[in-house]
Amino acid sequence: MIYNKEKKVLYSAIQPTNLMTLGNYLGAIKNWVKLQDEYNCFYAIADLHALTVTQEPADFRAKALSLFAQLIACGIDPDKSLLYFQSHVPAHAELQWVLCCNTYLGEAYRMTQFKDKSQKHAENVNVGLLAYPVLMAADILLYQASLVPVGQDQKQHLEISRDIAIRMNNKYGGIFTVPEPYITVGGARIMSLQNPEAKMSKSDTDVNATVELSDDKDTVIRKFKRAVTDCGAEIVAREDKPGITNLLNIYSETTGKTVAEAEKEFEGKGYGDFKLAVGEAVADKLAPVRAEHARLLKEKSVLSDIIRKNGLETRAAADRTLVKVYKKIGLVPKDNK
Ligand code: TYM
Repeated sequence: MIYNKEKKVLYSAIQPTNLMTLGNYLGAIKNWVKLQDEYNCFYAIADLHALTVTQEPADFRAKALSLFAQLIACGIDPDKSLLYFQSHVPAHAELQWVLCCNTYLGEAYRMTQFKDKSQKHAENVNVGLLAYPVLMAADILLYQASLVPVGQDQKQHLEISRDIAIRMNNKYGGIFTVPEPYITVGGARIMSLQNPEAKMSKSDTDVNATVELSDDKDTVIRKFKRAVTDCGAEIVAREDKPGITNLLNIYSETTGKTVAEAEKEFEGKGYGDFKLAVGEAVADKLAPVRAEHARLLKEKSVLSDIIRKNGLETRAAADRTLVKVYKKIGLVPKDNK
């Protein structure tokens, strides 16, 4: 990364539980790409976070590597931004411990994602699931990030990260930059194509609910043709029309047109024509990403070089904050100075 002192730091991450969905792309990754020139950007594959669910090792490793290449294919420029694996930087887990000691159990239990996930995976409610947002706070605070582009579902985790930072700043004197979330309106919550009341999720078992970035044109169009819509025939964004509203948002975020412009464009048209047009717009957007992803996956040594180089550079940046934190809280420095 070309570190520029004049620019602030931006941080975000994505879990490699699966490859990217259209929700991940429109909610977060599109903004990661857009903000690369304005900030010093750190982007992580949050592989440690993904361990809260049992992963099949070979499949997990393959998905993480493929996601790394997919992010580059989406436009994350490895010369501009530090794209790296969270597990390659030990300071994340080290800072997490310190932050855990400054987080109340009540705060952690209150997280809606903890409640949802403990219900969904009742057979495996592990300590990691509860400490999950504290690891997120460690990710962000390690790099003194000012801005964190995420989808709406991560807003509460950003709030707890801010609370922990402010608490520690008050206790020990300015240690951390207090981060702000960056959440755009239209893409913040892309919903499932089969149930517009639920967010589009990597882990959905209904293949028609989720558009994957790696889906080919026919698959994308088929999924949009099957998308659940609402009663009536009007193509307008309204609370009582969650299916159509979701499709209008997807169309707007994909084409750059506003929702109002999209409503006008489809005035008087039927749902069938509209769904086809959304599918085509999305498929056209994804085609070059898909081709570039496939090309990059063959460039194994190029990817390995980026992974090695970025791991080193990120470790150095993270250690600077960790040394500062250890000193502030009263641990004996390694060189005892
Ligand atoms: P993850 O992997 O679930 O999702 C990655 C990003 O995609 C956004 N997102 C969505 N946005 C709009 N509509 C959707 N349907 C949708 N689904 C997902 C997420 O909000 C996220 O921005 N815990 C995080 C990863 C993480 C992280 C961090 C993020 C780890 N450390 C530090 C920010 C800062 C997660 O599981 O994201």
